[in-house]
Amino acid sequence: MRPFLSILSISLILFLSCQKALTETQKKEYLAKGKQIAKTTANHLGGELTKHMKAGGVSEAIPYCNGQAGPLTQEMSEKFKVAIKRTSHKLRNSNNAPTANEIAILEQFKELKATNTTLKPVVALDDKGHPHFYAPIIVQKKCLACHGVIGDSMKPATDSIIKTLYPKDKATGFHEGDLRGIWSIAFESK
Ligand code: HEC
Repeated sequence: MRPFLSILSISLILFLSCQKALTETQKKEYLAKGKQIAKTTANHLGGELTKHMKAGGVSEAIPYCNGQAGPLTQEMSEKFKVAIKRTSHKLRNSNNAPTANEIAILEQFKELKATNTTLKPVVALDDKGHPHFYAPIIVQKKCLACHGVIGDSMKPATDSIIKTLYPKDKATGFHEGDLRGIWSIAFESK
């Protein structure tokens, strides 16, 4: 039994030491890339959203988000040759459901937020050994029309429109500065 156990522990040590780790330079590189991709995608989504809000208010902007948020994120993924995703602990679209790794990051960000720590993007290796970028998405004033407190910062009529498209919507009740979710960007391994 003993030799077997020591072989087992040696193999485990070997296995763990063979796992790739990112160097500090690689981490910096992926952080910079991730930030740039998240910012470009956010600006693109935000710009379109503002345009539709100005043109026809929430009743025009909601169907736009419903139909275009996914395809637009996909388009940006193809442009940057990565897999871009927005996910949350309080979901609207169940297609955006978090993976186990994303749940762990969301939990970590929620805990830090509870202690008033400023949230910063992180880079880590995923299950496949690929670099992965995560960044917090913070609620701004302009988000409240569709993610705010119903009957206060968000109109009940808006909630009704949202509920017809997303009957299980959990993405309301937010205040400015709250954690809305995360950007999750998977890089191909080099
Ligand atoms: C006009 C209404 C509207 C506004 C304003 C709005 N959203 Fe959304 N949001 C939506 C809709 C609708 C979806 C679902 C999109 C889909 O089906 O992919 C959504 C989805 C999301 C998601 C994806 C995760 C999930 O729960 O499905 C995030 C993150 C998000 N919104 C953040 C924000 C932030 C941050 C702002 C402000 C900068 C904002 N939203 C402003 C309507 C809105």
